[in-house]
Amino acid sequence: MKKTRIGVLVSGGGSNLQAIIDSCATGILSGRAEVVLVIANKADAYGLERARKHNIDAVFLDRTQYADSAAYCRRIGEELKLRQVDLVCLAGYLLKVAPALVQAYHGRILNIHPALLPKYGGKGMYGHHVHEAVIAAGEKESGVTVHFVDEEYDHGSVIVQRRVPVLPTDTADDVARRVLVEEHKAYPEAISIVLGAVRT
Ligand code: GRF
Repeated sequence: MKKTRIGVLVSGGGSNLQAIIDSCATGILSGRAEVVLVIANKADAYGLERARKHNIDAVFLDRTQYADSAAYCRRIGEELKLRQVDLVCLAGYLLKVAPALVQAYHGRILNIHPALLPKYGGKGMYGHHVHEAVIAAGEKESGVTVHFVDEEYDHGSVIVQRRVPVLPTDTADDVARRVLVEEHKAYPEAISIVLGAVRT
């Protein structure tokens, strides 16, 4: 059976990318999908190094070299097309995806967000900002959401959510660490659901 070809966009460490790579090798995605391309908007994104270690095409695209988001995303689209990518996964990717690229992969572009959307999402809500807001609000739980990407930040329909407790003594780092463990389970689960639902 043809494996679904996954393209992953990263900006940083790429631990979610690693979780997807590992799942394709020995987990629930094994035999069903393979990561064929990693694109980063940061030259030092460790996600690129993770790709290279697994002989996966690793491409740095410098956003400053493009007039605007649309031009940058057109280049991303060209790289994705070159590898015949079926499914796009944003994994710790911090730039907004231009509408044309979202539409080109409608129903086949996913994002992971370290909170229980629709709460604590939207522009500027990433990384520690999310966990600080959760603690400041006195939430008793948080978690992770994997969702389809649409034209707005953190807005598309939810595919998977996993919850974690927030303890009164928690710092933002404590919550981030607890959520990240669940993220690494949630992304392969979400991809598995999408693979099961549609022939990509
Ligand atoms: C994670 O919290 C992820 O949810 C967010 O960026 C953080 C780092 O992700 N989008 P990764 O280790 O780069 O995958």
